[in-house]
Amino acid sequence: MAAPAVYGNWKMNLDVVEAIHLTQQLGVLLRRSPLEHVEVGVAPPFVDLRSVGSVIEADRLGLVLCAQHVNEHESGAHTGEVSLAMLERLGVRAVIVGHSERRRLYGMDDALVARTLARVAGAGLRAILCVGEGLEVREAGGEAAFVAEQLRAALAGLAEGARAHVTVAYEPLWAIGTGVVAEAAQVAAQNRSIRATLADLGVDAPVLYGGSVSAENAAELAHDGAVDGFLVGGASLRAEAFHAVCRALDDCYAANR
Ligand code: PGA
Repeated sequence: MAAPAVYGNWKMNLDVVEAIHLTQQLGVLLRRSPLEHVEVGVAPPFVDLRSVGSVIEADRLGLVLCAQHVNEHESGAHTGEVSLAMLERLGVRAVIVGHSERRRLYGMDDALVARTLARVAGAGLRAILCVGEGLEVREAGGEAAFVAEQLRAALAGLAEGARAHVTVAYEPLWAIGTGVVAEAAQVAAQNRSIRATLADLGVDAPVLYGGSVSAENAAELAHDGAVDGFLVGGASLRAEAFHAVCRALDDCYAANR
């Protein structure tokens, strides 16, 4: 079984003061109720990374500092963009790649996802590759094929040495930020299919689930080791809710071992 992980994607929320506050609150909860098995990471907006990283370090919170996105290029004339080297310098150890909001709203196509993934994983940082089908695809029964294609496009050309640094996050678009969580059986079925595609591609990656994960549904989704963890949006903005998701996964993992 892969080591379980939970990553909180704060999206475009929390200014630097709010971000520090949330990190400190999370620190209090982690000290009060430490996790034994689960790796926990937070992905603040770029402008908060430095401060959040300082709190993590000063308070020895053991949280993985993550970024929500990175530019595919090394450096240069890319106004408004941020490079991987800049993130590494701030202590970032994982980067979300190809989140559906980047794909849908900011023109990130499969080819760009693949190049960005290669940049991140090639540098030895964890690349959290997001895949997932929209509602129309699911209603037509094409979800397995659609996600398999996304995985192939992102991973087929990835250098052998970079493959160990990939984590896959299955996030059905219809479940993101909607409060509609995929049923445990749907997640389990899609994860089986994802694992088969990954095996085909020679990639042994943990598979997370994302989409309206909450303190209430985390235990059921993690039941039986069906997922290796979660990518959490909305619920990661509240320390108690996020900690409860991590706690639920930690307990499931301990029970399943
Ligand atoms: P959500 O977001 O938990 O708010 O649905 C998940 C994500 O987009 O990663």
